[in-house]
Amino acid sequence: MRCGIFDSGVGGLTVAGEIYRANIFREIVYYGDTARVPYGNRNESTIIRYSLEALEFLKNFDIDMLVVACNSASAWALEELRKEADFPVIGVIEAGVEGVKSLPTSTKLLLTGTRATITSQIYQRELKKAGYHNLISRATPLFVPFVEEGIWSGSLIEGVFEHYFHSLPREEIGGVILGCTHYPFLSEVFRKFFPNATLIHSGKSIVRYLKTHYNLPPTSTNSFQIYASENVSQVRQIAKDWLKLMGLQSRLEG
Ligand code: DGL
Repeated sequence: MRCGIFDSGVGGLTVAGEIYRANIFREIVYYGDTARVPYGNRNESTIIRYSLEALEFLKNFDIDMLVVACNSASAWALEELRKEADFPVIGVIEAGVEGVKSLPTSTKLLLTGTRATITSQIYQRELKKAGYHNLISRATPLFVPFVEEGIWSGSLIEGVFEHYFHSLPREEIGGVILGCTHYPFLSEVFRKFFPNATLIHSGKSIVRYLKTHYNLPPTSTNSFQIYASENVSQVRQIAKDWLKLMGLQSRLEG
């Protein structure tokens, strides 16, 4: 099986890395729309248009499944994407919500994501339905350009964390939902700011989700191709660095 994965930029690599590690697809084709990142500050119709264009690009590779490794596109474009695809299209939000369910419903949760994801209210609605009523939401769009720039730790990004989170009862927060696929790159800083929190990362839960909902026998991934609408060599370098951080040997092509 060949899996297509897309995001506005490098963020979806956090999802692609987990899928790669799980060895459930023979081939992975990743597309980052780096020429137009960020998606999270755009309106609904722009996010839908960009997502449909990403789908068109990935259709050239004869994919059997599409993973929308972008919460902003998962929030606004899934329905339109499904109309245009004759294979399963899977978003990351459902899996992200599933990931939270390992925590007790009384946990004080912090939801972080782009403006598009937070204003869609999908996480908030689904979490409420699942019994989580102790939720603080924060749109944190400035994290995205830092991650794209390769700034994943240090005083600059900590200043941005301080800007967004200075008024929160940080010690009391028991779970932080990384509701943007760029944010796992910042896990070290999230851990520092929220020492008592479990970090929920949809890349991790999507593997469980895919294995539960689809018949994906173990295989070895023998091809991981990376494409981008701009700066593809930088995206490949970030992919190599990320896979190395995950303790994986990379066999990247594209
Ligand atoms: N990584 C994306 C997400 O999960 C989008 C970030 C952006 O382009 O604003 O929402």
